[in-house]
Amino acid sequence: MPASTRPASPSAASAQPPPAFLPFTRPTIDDETIAGVAEVLRSGWITSGPQVKAFEAKLSEYVGGRPVRAFNSGTCTMEIALRIAGVGPGHEVITTPLTWVATSNVALEVGARPVFVDIDPVTRNIDLNRIEAAITPATRAIIPVDLSGLPVDRDRLYAIAQRHKLRVVEDAAQAFGSTWKGKRIGAFGDFVSFSFHANKNITAVEGGCLVLNDEREARLAEQYRLQGVVRSGHDGMEVELVGGKYNLTDVAARVGLGQLPHLATFNAKRRELARAYFELFAASSAPALGLRLPVADFEHSNWHMFQVILPEERLTVKRADVMAKMSAAGIGTGVHYPAIHLFALYRRLGWKDGDYPHAEYAGRNILTLPLFPAMTRVDVARVVDTLAAILQAHRQS
Ligand SMILES: Cc1ncc(COP(=O)(O)O)c(C=O)c1O
Repeated sequence: MPASTRPASPSAASAQPPPAFLPFTRPTIDDETIAGVAEVLRSGWITSGPQVKAFEAKLSEYVGGRPVRAFNSGTCTMEIALRIAGVGPGHEVITTPLTWVATSNVALEVGARPVFVDIDPVTRNIDLNRIEAAITPATRAIIPVDLSGLPVDRDRLYAIAQRHKLRVVEDAAQAFGSTWKGKRIGAFGDFVSFSFHANKNITAVEGGCLVLNDEREARLAEQYRLQGVVRSGHDGMEVELVGGKYNLTDVAARVGLGQLPHLATFNAKRRELARAYFELFAASSAPALGLRLPVADFEHSNWHMFQVILPEERLTVKRADVMAKMSAAGIGTGVHYPAIHLFALYRRLGWKDGDYPHAEYAGRNILTLPLFPAMTRVDVARVVDTLAAILQAHRQS
C-alpha cells in the first residue's frame, strides 16, 4: 500500500505539532511600512533626506517640541551628547554597571573615565542613594539607564545633578514610550538618547535619536553627526570640528515613521502581557523556588523587557543550562546584561570581581523572557510553566 493511502497510526493522528519557536523578541512591521520602504528605495534618494526630516519632526512633536536629531544608533547619540557637553579627558562620567556596554563605552570613546555605581537590586537601575558618594571634582555627567524601560526616578536624579552642577545624558535607549509622573521620557530633562535598534519597542532597523535643549546644541549635533560639516548657500561648506559618520538613512527613517503610530498599541500589548506574567507566575511554584520578578510598574514602564533573576544559590544548574533547557522547549531567552566592569577591557582598566555585588549577581542571573506585541497569553503561560518546571527539577535539595 502506498504511504499516502495507508491509514495514519492512532498515535500519529493524536500527536500535536510542536509549538513554533518563541523568540524572546520580534519586531512587528506592517505592510504599509514595507510598501513605504519600497517607495523610498524607488524614489532615487535613499540616504539622509526628506524621510529623516519627517521622522525628526514627528519625534520632536512626540517630546513636546524639543529639538530632536536622528542618528544611525543610540550609541553615537550619547557620545555626541557628551561631546556637546564638553566631557573629555580628565573627566568622570557616573553610570550603572548593569547596562549594554555602549553606555560606558561612550565615556571611554570621548576620553573620559566611567565611574560605576552599583544598582538597586529591586529596580535594577543605578542606586540613586549611592551616586553622591561617587561624585568627585572631575565628575561632569551622569548617564542613568532605564533598564527594561523602568525609568530611574527623574525627580531624585535631577535634584542630584542640579546640586552638583552635572550634565545628564539619559540613556533611554529602552524607554521610548515610558513616562515619569505623567510626562513622557524625553519631554523634559537634559539630553535624552533613544535607540531604534531592531529589538526596541519601536524600530528603524538600526537607529537612534537625541533630544537636545536648544537649537545651538542641535546644530552641534548635526556637525558631529556628519564629519563636522556645515553647509551654506549653494556651494558653501565649512568644517570646524571632528565629526563622525552617524547619519540615519531615509530607508531606516521610513521604517521608524511607520512604527511611530503603533507605539501606543504596541506598549499596551506589552503591558497586558507583563500583567499576564505576574498573574501566572504568582500562581506557579516559581516565586516559592526563589525566582525574582521585576518591579510591577504599570504607571511608568514601557515594558521593553520582562526580566527575571534566577536564584543561583537554590539551583543545581547555571543560567546557561536554564537557557539551553528553555531553548530545547522551543523558547528563546536573552541576557541583558552581564556586569560591564567584569569584561576584559574594563578589568584591564582596573575593575575587579566584588566591586559592585548587586550588579554582579544580576549580571550572572538575569534572564530576559519573551515579550513582544505579537505574543499571546498562551505563549506567556507556556514560558511560565516551562521555567517553573525547570526550576523545580533543578532545585537544591
Ligand atoms: C541600555 C542601552 N543603551 C544603549 C544602547 C545602544 O543603542 P544602539 O544599539 O542603537 O546603538 C542600547 C541598545 O541595545 C541599550 O539597550
